[in-house]
Amino acid sequence: MSTHHASATTTTQTLTRRLPAVVHPDPVPLVTGELVEYAPLDHAASTPALEAVVRAVDTVTRTYSSVHRGTGWLSRVTSAHYEAAREEVARFVGARADDVVVFTRATTDATNLLARALPDGTPVVVFASEHHASLLPWPAERTHRLPVPASPAEALGRLESTLSGLADGPAPLVVVTGASNVTGELWPVEQVVAVARRYGARVLLDAAQLVAHRRVDLAALDADWVAFSGHKLHAPFGAGALVGRRDWLDAADPYLAGGGASAAVSEASTTWTTGAARHEGGSPNVLGAVALAAACATVRRHRGALEAHEERLTRRLVEGLRAVPGVRTHSVFGDDHDRVPVVAFTVDGLDSGLVAAALSAEHGIGVRAGKFCAHLLVDALLARDPKRPHATAVRASAGLATTDEHVERLLAAVADLAAHGPRVAYRRDETHGWVPVEDARAADVPLPW
Ligand SMILES: Cc1ncc(COP(=O)(O)O)c(C=O)c1O
Repeated sequence: MSTHHASATTTTQTLTRRLPAVVHPDPVPLVTGELVEYAPLDHAASTPALEAVVRAVDTVTRTYSSVHRGTGWLSRVTSAHYEAAREEVARFVGARADDVVVFTRATTDATNLLARALPDGTPVVVFASEHHASLLPWPAERTHRLPVPASPAEALGRLESTLSGLADGPAPLVVVTGASNVTGELWPVEQVVAVARRYGARVLLDAAQLVAHRRVDLAALDADWVAFSGHKLHAPFGAGALVGRRDWLDAADPYLAGGGASAAVSEASTTWTTGAARHEGGSPNVLGAVALAAACATVRRHRGALEAHEERLTRRLVEGLRAVPGVRTHSVFGDDHDRVPVVAFTVDGLDSGLVAAALSAEHGIGVRAGKFCAHLLVDALLARDPKRPHATAVRASAGLATTDEHVERLLAAVADLAAHGPRVAYRRDETHGWVPVEDARAADVPLPW
């Protein structure tokens, strides 16, 4: 008996300590034509799919039929898949029993949905450091933008004084990111919620950069809504979610008027449904919802292993980049602040777009350069540099699919670039940015159909 018990325990521990499998792309070509393993350091933009997600999508692709209103057996199966996906998403973010899970296209769609559901006159308080998806959907005349803070204490102080100035009006909405998509730094969301609660404000947590790396517990956090995207959580594009309180959503006009959102229609009037269906008009994205749920379930089971893996990568990435002469890392609260594995940096004397192009063409490394749809934050960070030589930054973002070798390759490549510049000649192209002058890679990528 005891042996049996011990081996069952071991199996469980082995399962949860292992990293879940992600898809491995074919080797990618360098500018020389040589093939190398791709180094995925662009997780903050989009993440490679989990094998479990590919399997789930394959299964549903082979079985799907109409959802919700069909009477055939496969309609029943498909409807069950779709509603089970909703339950998994709720579990994944620690939703309260009466919260609603609305499937959206992604985070941007989720924040815009909530913006449409804002009760009349609701002021919105948001930090300028937000991603544009959380910065821009709100009515301009009622939005209070707080400047990029230099410390969590400053952020909380500014929030408190703004909310206290709004205390006599309708309850505000506070929008806050869980982790910055530029610097990876964690925002003090527990304290933000505590301040908001003191003033009766509601809170939307933009967890687009958080859910792949840290557990979110909406109920424990006492935030009102959370928004996130499947393609940043190892599921493909096209599905995300807005999860949280149903009152504002039920009181709002349907996001898309049509079938599913309507309960009864007569010549004289239309009665709209409530709950998720009110804002999921039209035939739903069942494959996207299933992919998202498969990613949630898999990440949830492997969270411990994932966090340990990423803690090591984050430390090496931050310390390694900081140690390269001529490289500057950029942070809101300081390089030692807790963060997910995302680092923004610049290389003295080199345009950030050129650095990113050279990392890809000469080393097979995928990063991103620019302002990362967070223009105000990147401008503020780069303005802290007294010489202000850069208009944009490079962002390296690691995760589940990143290995130690990928990080070491990046650090060696950045050090080489900082010391010697690119090894081949580049020119700037209006459409593609920096491209090698001579390139052995095929101009056209093979299409998957
Ligand atoms: C913090 C944050 N919020 C929102 C978004 C928008 O996500 P999506 O493009 O999936 O709508 C992103 C995407 O980069 C993000 O990083």
